[in-house]
Amino acid sequence: MILSGSAKLAGVLGWPVAHSRSPRLHGFWLERHGIDGAYLPLPVRPDRFADAVRALRDLGFRGGNVTIPHKEAAFAVCDRVSRRAERAGAVNTLIFDADGAIIGDNTDGWGFLESLRAALPDFTFVGRTAVLLGAGGAARAIAAALLDEGAQVALVNRTPERAEALAKALGGTITAHACDAAGALFPAADLLINATALGMMGRPSPPLPLERLPERAIVADIVYVPRRTGLLRAAEGRGLRTVGGLGMLLHQARPGFAAWFGIDPVVDGELEAFVSADIPEMDEGA
Ligand SMILES: NC(=O)c1ccc[n+]([C@@H]2O[C@H](COP(=O)([O-])OP(=O)(O)OC[C@H]3O[C@@H](n4cnc5c(N)ncnc54)[C@H](OP(=O)(O)O)[C@@H]3O)[C@@H](O)[C@H]2O)c1
Repeated sequence: MILSGSAKLAGVLGWPVAHSRSPRLHGFWLERHGIDGAYLPLPVRPDRFADAVRALRDLGFRGGNVTIPHKEAAFAVCDRVSRRAERAGAVNTLIFDADGAIIGDNTDGWGFLESLRAALPDFTFVGRTAVLLGAGGAARAIAAALLDEGAQVALVNRTPERAEALAKALGGTITAHACDAAGALFPAADLLINATALGMMGRPSPPLPLERLPERAIVADIVYVPRRTGLLRAAEGRGLRTVGGLGMLLHQARPGFAAWFGIDPVVDGELEAFVSADIPEMDEGA
């Protein structure tokens, strides 16, 4: 990579950030399109976040992605946010405009929907029932995106009060439930989504009565390390269609790349294989 003096710059702000696959992902697209630009890992301590964002803007960066634990702080530092960031209550994509304004977007929920559309082109969301496990930042973005597409959402969370607060904040066709009520929701589910931290490396997938899901149900897990979680393997074993979390990661990156580097990039098998090569397929210990 050789940069000119007018190279376009972006990066991912996180703490820590070493685990992030975003530099690899954006680096692939930059190389594919021969763009004079770079995308960097940017480790930023939480107490330095707002100053770091303003400094990047002042240094001429085009913007960047925001990951754990900064997504809510990013929302607060923005001059303007998109409607979907407003709905998600968090920002994962920052864009610095020509006037120096800091604009925030949240592409997580959209990225999830796009990954489903790519994997299952015939699937539509209107009138479908989704059982969504989790009430954290990712669950909120996904719930908002599903509701905006006309789906019904049953939110299930270990801490039911958190699910109730989220359902109230989003409004519309969404209900909140405790974990022990999940099985009763399964027979009506078109879509089951794990948006909890369970299933990540070293953390077994949630024990769920998958036998209660109808044949038509699709099981999605947004965890992507490992790529084939215990939940996905159990659902495959039942003959259900599954969608892993890597697609969401790849698709959520597209709007940022387009804004910073001027090309709407494509998610294809070559990109997927390149990013996958860095991620274990299964947690052998789980
Ligand atoms: N594919 C992608 O592009 C993508 C994007 C973002 C996030 N993710 C993944 O999504 C997951 C959630 O991320 P997040 O940012 O939403 O995290 P978060 O805000 O910290 O929320 C974590 C969620 O997991 C639940 N949880 C944690 N430990 C649990 C346990 N032992 N038993 C039951 N529930 C448990 C929490 O329940 P409580 O409310 O009860 O604590 C909460 O609902 C992570 O695995 C992350 O890697 C993937």
